[in-house]
Amino acid sequence: MKILGIETSCDETAAAIIEDGTKIISNVVATSSAMHARSGGVIPENAAREQIKAIIPVIREALGNHKIDAIAVTIGPGLIGSLLVGVETAKTLSLLWGTPIIPVNHLVGHIYANWLDKDKSPEFPSLALVVSGGHTDLVYMKSHGDIEYIGGTRDDAAGEAFDKCARLLGLPYPGGPNLSNLAQKYLDKNPNAKLNLFPRPMINEDNLDWSFSGLKTAVLREVGNKKFNEEEKSKIAAEVQEAIVDCLVTKSLHAIKKYNPKSFLLAGGVAANKRLREVLSVKISRTTLHIPSAILCTDNAAYIGSAAYFNKKEVDWRKLNASPELTITASLL
Ligand code: KG4
Ligand code: ZN
Repeated sequence: MKILGIETSCDETAAAIIEDGTKIISNVVATSSAMHARSGGVIPENAAREQIKAIIPVIREALGNHKIDAIAVTIGPGLIGSLLVGVETAKTLSLLWGTPIIPVNHLVGHIYANWLDKDKSPEFPSLALVVSGGHTDLVYMKSHGDIEYIGGTRDDAAGEAFDKCARLLGLPYPGGPNLSNLAQKYLDKNPNAKLNLFPRPMINEDNLDWSFSGLKTAVLREVGNKKFNEEEKSKIAAEVQEAIVDCLVTKSLHAIKKYNPKSFLLAGGVAANKRLREVLSVKISRTTLHIPSAILCTDNAAYIGSAAYFNKKEVDWRKLNASPELTITASLL
């Protein structure tokens, strides 16, 4: 079965064709991030306008000469203007081609990057850590479509913490990857450095939650109006990254101990972070760790096509709506 995935929840316009939920036939992503770099962050109205410009060329390129059996589209969470571009395009194509539509929750979609182009699919039950720009959720998956929320951030998302701390350090948008690159320069020169400058809120609490908002204040206090040379700046970047990674890994290990899953799935844009991938790989031994290739962690439509295949809940195009506030466990119908 070939599914055309469409993803437009933020500043990426993406389309992909996925066969039987696992094989990537095409995967096209256009991003308006260069425009947002100039404004220092995503302005929703601008992102939506760029979606409108890109959606048809991106779908056309992904589609090539393929015949498809269904259309999968992200309905939320995300920016309403951006989401609407994907949802309305999917509805129009459904009407035109007589093809069914499968709505996909963006956060659930991220998890399915772990099913793409892999020799072996993850075994259930799974624990999944979804770390993106707007969400940080830990979920227990008994099977496809059976997802229970077991913990998450009480305030800022991990990606948001990366982005806001990057801004405090004067780094350009997109903050997360830029902060991570700078941190890596420090780690390459100082592989055994002890990094414990910043607090790890809630790390010793007996729950599976996080709080990242205090990190901004701690970084602000450290940075103040001081002038830093590149070496000092890269050390602070490494400290920020280590604090976030430490919190994410510690609670993930607690969750694995408590739930004893057959697999642990990393997902979301922050899953592209090299240090997080390394530390999880070293520390997780009780279960099988799955980490998608970095390119499949950040927003794309391949995982939307995969999630749709394994959670086939077709809807008539007349009933499809964008839902900007969806949570990871929200029912789609
Ligand atoms: O999942 P995603 O592409 O979009 C959302 O659904 O939010 O995640 C974007 C987030 C941003 O906060 C971005 O800074 C962060 O993922 N991110 C990273 C890295 N690559 C992307 N954070 C740390 N290190 C990275 N290498
Ligand atoms: Zn995302």
